[in-house]
Amino acid sequence: MTERYPTPTLKTEGGALHLEGVALDDIATRFGTPSYVYSRAALTASFDAYRQALAGRRALVCYAVKANSNLGVLSVFAGLGAGFDIVSGGELARVLAAGGDAGKVVFSGVGKSRAEMRQALEAGIRCFNVESAAELERLDAVAGELGRKAPIALRVNPDVDPKTHPYISTGLKSNKFGVAFDDALALYRRAARLPNLRISGVACHIGSQLLDPAPMTEAAQKVLGLVDQLAAEGIALDHIDLGGGLGIRYRDETPPAVAAYLAPLLAVFEGRREELCFEPGRSLVGNAGLLLTRIEYLKPGTEKNFAIVDAAMNDLARPALYDAYHEVVAVQQRQLPPTRYEIVGPICESGDFLAHDRDLAVAEGDLLAILSAGAYGMTMSSNYNTRGRAAEIIVDGDRVHLVRQRETVDSLYALETPLA
Ligand code: LLP
Repeated sequence: MTERYPTPTLKTEGGALHLEGVALDDIATRFGTPSYVYSRAALTASFDAYRQALAGRRALVCYAVKANSNLGVLSVFAGLGAGFDIVSGGELARVLAAGGDAGKVVFSGVGKSRAEMRQALEAGIRCFNVESAAELERLDAVAGELGRKAPIALRVNPDVDPKTHPYISTGLKSNKFGVAFDDALALYRRAARLPNLRISGVACHIGSQLLDPAPMTEAAQKVLGLVDQLAAEGIALDHIDLGGGLGIRYRDETPPAVAAYLAPLLAVFEGRREELCFEPGRSLVGNAGLLLTRIEYLKPGTEKNFAIVDAAMNDLARPALYDAYHEVVAVQQRQLPPTRYEIVGPICESGDFLAHDRDLAVAEGDLLAILSAGAYGMTMSSNYNTRGRAAEIIVDGDRVHLVRQRETVDSLYALETPLA
């Protein structure tokens, strides 16, 4: 049986929605809307699921910062001993500002700049996940300039089909990510000859919102084959990074539990000495957060009825960008017959929708909770239409922490100058 809401710490009490011990209504009154609201208990529980599934193994869970990079969220994971998977110097700065350990940071991404390499070398990160031959040469040069050795893994592209949305599948030959599997051996030999690199591991990441462990297991088997080939050549790896990708329930998906997802992967590496790394993002934060928004207007129409809310595609881009589904729940229960609505924002684009065809018993001024918005929500937001970004709040039991203030309008153009 599935829980009523995909967000585990969300419940209805006295006809009103609460996240942990706090009424969402009170949060809206105190901080305004739209606001992202995260549950600390849900963040902790999802991290613990990884920890428990990996108990007794040499393993490191590197939270993929791109999913939600708020310092409050990062500090929760840092406090739990997490490592971090970053894709920019900006994300590294955030991790350090939140108290994260540079020694547990892996750096992914196809376009690392020289400045980002220097920053990461100086911070002393755990590993660069190198994605091309050219990057390997550049990293060797930058490390040489600093008189350091750069720890590296090659991100290999195992060419398996993760069977997910094409925008978020990354392990196929046709993707820009990683080095072709068949080139990996030659590149490792090259890396072994470069004076300023230290070969540490191998990495792969095949895609996101994966609901079936089979493609990942297939990728893991291919990677293990490579590890053995390398060992035969005297290139011993210390860690194997299997990326992120475990999916969550947005609607009626039935993703495996963390332990069930990891079990076939762990079986592939049974008895091996290498440390296993994972880079989960969505499965750690996605269902720990929601977007709280208020209905500005109800606008009945002949074809469709619109609920115009104060959140928009600039706050949550996933529906407009991927046609993604997010559950929408009324915060206060009303004794009204439900009406079918398009949930749309104030932005001047027809693509500005948050949800289609939702039956809701609501009135103007009511609050809606848009669920499963903890991952790739705030991090993909923009200031389109000169809209300040939403506030971010972490609920912890009956306590409430404002972890990002709502952006003010003057801050949006503070870096701009009119011509005289
Ligand atoms: N590691 C690497 C190298 C990645 O590229 C990603 C995500 C992750 C880890 C984390 O994957 P996760 O566990 O979150 O699936 N904006 C899209 C998702 C893009 C994912 C990009 N890479 C969305 O809103 O669905």
